[in-house]
Amino acid sequence: MAKIATLTVDGKNFELPLVQGAEGEQAIDISQLRSRTGLITLDPGFANTGSCESGITYMDGEKGILRYRGIPVEQLAGKSTFVETSYLLINGELPTREELTRFSIMLNDHSLVHEDMRTFFEYFPRGAHPMGILSSMVNALRAFYPEIPERGEDEETNMMFTRLLSKVRTMAAMSYKISRGHKVVYPRHDLTYCANFLNMMFDSPVRPYIIDNDLVKALEVFWILHADHEQNCSTAAVRLVGSARVNLYAAIAAGISALWGPLHGGANQAVVEMLQQIHDSGGDPAPFLARARDREDPFRLMGFGHRVYKTYDPRVKIMKKVCGKVLKKMKRHDPLMDVAMRLEEAAVKDPYFKDHNLYPNVDFYSGILLRAIGIPVNMFTVMFAIGRLPGWISQWKEAMDDPHWKLHRPRQVYIGSKVRDYVPMEKRKRPKN
Ligand code: CMC
Repeated sequence: MAKIATLTVDGKNFELPLVQGAEGEQAIDISQLRSRTGLITLDPGFANTGSCESGITYMDGEKGILRYRGIPVEQLAGKSTFVETSYLLINGELPTREELTRFSIMLNDHSLVHEDMRTFFEYFPRGAHPMGILSSMVNALRAFYPEIPERGEDEETNMMFTRLLSKVRTMAAMSYKISRGHKVVYPRHDLTYCANFLNMMFDSPVRPYIIDNDLVKALEVFWILHADHEQNCSTAAVRLVGSARVNLYAAIAAGISALWGPLHGGANQAVVEMLQQIHDSGGDPAPFLARARDREDPFRLMGFGHRVYKTYDPRVKIMKKVCGKVLKKMKRHDPLMDVAMRLEEAAVKDPYFKDHNLYPNVDFYSGILLRAIGIPVNMFTVMFAIGRLPGWISQWKEAMDDPHWKLHRPRQVYIGSKVRDYVPMEKRKRPKN
């Protein structure tokens, strides 16, 4: 029998259907609430609102579980590649050998960026943040590649996805090279997705880049861990903007802008800056923990806390392990790794952090890994964006294919002035302080 919830308003009962998810989680379907009761729901930050039904990513924030298309992220990080995981997210199944080869060939074929786009890059001020550049460039792809497939044109749609996946990586490396005033390095057909990116970032005519398979593997894991995270802020932005039936590039550009924020993807840059501050002030995390506890102080411990995880983010353990491996392999000692471990140890014991269920999130160690690979700090969030791209694409595709999909248009509770008359300029007065 279908389950229902009963809502009582002014002594009158209303029955609302319950929706059951694949893992047993339940939701109250309120889509008919307003037409039946005149009421809307109020949920600032959508903290308790399901905006869609999705079959892509499963998270359990209480147990610290993350799965893409049912497969635990730990298994994907250990056994898969970023390209294979991207295929899984977008298409719903792991590819056969043939499908993976075809996908890789398409990624290779679409990896070049229109030469005219370089001019675009060259006119950004040198100090411009790479996230702003990336968002603009992705939006500009619409102008350079105007063919937008219709619904049902699967092959063309797949081409648009691979084009975007492949070009974003090239554009990110290109913008880095141009920002440094260096020669752009083109993608190579003989390199994998991740190795190609590292080569485009770091190869130079005077110092050829030697590809290290351990670094390539570390980058694969970094990108797999970021590949999707269900209805987070940037994915919700992609879905919301996409719901107006705008083209894919514009929707993804909106996702990139959302990700830039320090409460979201921008946290990986903010964490390293915070760790550096702690290090420069002597390395003791205690004063920073005290500031984070102080309600009068806007300071937050970056890389800590999560809207969904109320325990350890499952990605942290993997990220920390990869960090340790890469630093060991490179025989490099990063003092920020010591600061991070001291800070984590102190914070997880701290009653404030315990009471608020604040644990390290994916961004806590990721910046240390990126530093070790040689990625400059202002490119950290771009690295997150490249990783999240298959997630954004698969969520956009799921939304576009959903026959029940509607324009996203939340409501509000109005708390402004009641109706009043227009006042002519000469009669307007402000109270004096
Ligand atoms: N440091 C100190 N206090 C915190 C922190 C933190 N990092 N995070 C949350 N709190 C406190 C907050 O002050 C509030 O306390 P109280 O209830 O006493 O007023 C309580 O915890 C709940 O905070 P909230 O802001 O209502 O919770 P939220 O679910 O909206 O916040 C968050 C989630 C990620 C925005 C927040 O934890 C945060 O600002 N963290 C730091 C930034 C960060 O690391 N972001 C990356 C998130 S994971 C990767 C990603 O999504 O991109």
